[in-house]
Amino acid sequence: MLSYQHIYHAGCLPDIHKHMVLAEIFDLMAKKFKPMTYVETHAGRGYYDLNAPEASKTGEAAEGILRMLKENWFQPTRPFMKVLKDTQRRKGGQYYPGSAAIAEYYRSPGDKMHLMELHPGEIRYLQGSFKSSAIHIQQKDGYQALLTLAPPEPRRGLVFIDPSYEIKTEYDDMPGFVAKLMKKWAVPTLCIWYPLLPSLAHVNMVKKLYALNLPKSGVFQVEFCPRPERGDGWKALYGSGLFIANIPFGLEQRVEEIQRRLRGIKKTEE
Ligand SMILES: C[S@@+](CC[C@H](N)C(=O)[O-])C[C@H]1O[C@@H](n2cnc3c(N)ncnc32)[C@H](O)[C@@H]1O
Repeated sequence: MLSYQHIYHAGCLPDIHKHMVLAEIFDLMAKKFKPMTYVETHAGRGYYDLNAPEASKTGEAAEGILRMLKENWFQPTRPFMKVLKDTQRRKGGQYYPGSAAIAEYYRSPGDKMHLMELHPGEIRYLQGSFKSSAIHIQQKDGYQALLTLAPPEPRRGLVFIDPSYEIKTEYDDMPGFVAKLMKKWAVPTLCIWYPLLPSLAHVNMVKKLYALNLPKSGVFQVEFCPRPERGDGWKALYGSGLFIANIPFGLEQRVEEIQRRLRGIKKTEE
């Protein structure tokens, strides 16, 4: 039984990094006005109530999103800031939009969304928050469900893989999984999040992902290390990484702007 619940970490600095980049991808893809399918293998609960006891317990949101809002780190025109504002307007100021909420903000008529989540508590929140008939929610293993779906209609798409990496073999299994996926559905934009941990478990995974036959010009990797200090388990997380394939045009420049801003924030803390 998996125990990870993202509510403990929602709005932390690595989350901001992940969600800022994801929102930029959506914003660029939405500019084409062509229907697309969004598939998320590890969806979490969609919206996170930062007043929940689990969120207050770790204090990670205070160090992340709450500080970000107080200090205006980003222009309100940045895609994630628009999603955040919309979420707070509709649901209340204490809500933080996760990946599924970002996808829902950018969903156009004709687009489809497939959200997979295994945790029985998380899936209840997810089902309670997303009601459209274009949004399909399944309590299934996200990897297996994605392979079963591929290739979906519309074929143009974005796949987001954001595991909790509770199963140690997940790092080793990821490249083989992507290779299988590509055989069924070669064209989606693919975004894989990974934690930066002292074990450096991600290094081999990323190396093997690069070795796959992905479109070379469209592969991009970005990391942000806000917290060099070390702890145990998830407390040891010192940063956030994203491996992105088949990137939309213009993403690199936008991500560099975000990275520059985040790096500057780290400096003011030191
Ligand atoms: C990092 S959280 C997801 C956060 C979410 N993507 C967001 O940004 O809001 C990982 C989620 O994956 C779920 N999970 C773990 N293994 C899974 C699997 N094999 N298939 C589907 N969901 C899984 C966990 O229950 C957890 O909610």
